[in-house]
Amino acid sequence: MAPQTQKNDQLENEIHSDFLDVIAHELRAPLSSIKGYASILYHNREKNLTDKQKQQLNIINKNVDKLDVLINNVLELMKRDSGAVRLYIEPIQLPEIINSVIEDFEPIILENHQKISVNMQDDLPVIYGDIHKIIQIFSNLLSNALKYTPNGGKINIDTNITTNDQEILVSINDNGIGISKEDQVKIFQRFYTAKTAPPRTCDRIGLGLDIVKGNIELHNGKIWVDSKPGEGSTFYFTLPSTTGVIDE
Ligand SMILES: Nc1ncnc2c1ncn2[C@@H]1O[C@H](COP(=O)(O)OP(=O)(O)O)[C@@H](O)[C@H]1O
Ligand SMILES: [Mg+2]
Repeated sequence: MAPQTQKNDQLENEIHSDFLDVIAHELRAPLSSIKGYASILYHNREKNLTDKQKQQLNIINKNVDKLDVLINNVLELMKRDSGAVRLYIEPIQLPEIINSVIEDFEPIILENHQKISVNMQDDLPVIYGDIHKIIQIFSNLLSNALKYTPNGGKINIDTNITTNDQEILVSINDNGIGISKEDQVKIFQRFYTAKTAPPRTCDRIGLGLDIVKGNIELHNGKIWVDSKPGEGSTFYFTLPSTTGVIDE
């Protein structure tokens, strides 16, 4: 490609990326206002609210969270499809990310009576990556593990350095519904959802794993799954422990 055309494309991508960031911000602002006022209403009026009203405020809260995830996921894919992905590389401490993602899911974990254990190898090296994209990886995989595991289930997150010292290997294991061999090869495709019914009513769009795979590949890592229907699933992924990032 001629250098000038390449420059124009790059500029166009940057403008598109900025535009999508503005849209994301404008869509999120009213959402956080709805969430904030629902929370004020709950806490200021807690004593006067009936159980039904509390439940209704809870539903508002959950739906705002769902919309927030949906906006995030759709904009992420729009950026990727249009070549407008921008990575902001910085040193990242994985244990901090993992703990903060788990904290975000605390209400769901409590509601489902699920247990999470985290096993982090000592002296994990700092990795270099885009923090927002790495959070999205953990958040989408953990959300799936919780969603496709019945109440009372167990989720384990493990992080290790691979034997060649070049990569960090993360595994997220659950003892949920599992995934058939045929579905294991399809679930990373956009909009694909396996036929097996989830343990409780939930939203299934089929964008999460597409985003996860894309984000991991942008960091030069790999993802794969090992699963047995009825027994559970383990999603494995690697991230280079040094800067192995592909900057598009
Ligand atoms: N931990 C898991 N256990 C069982 N099935 C899973 C798990 N994670 C993903 N899946 C299957 O892969 C499909 C695609 O996942 P994803 O792209 O995150 O979409 P969604 O979460 O919207 O269903 C899910 O619909 C589900 O069928
Ligand atoms: Mg998902």
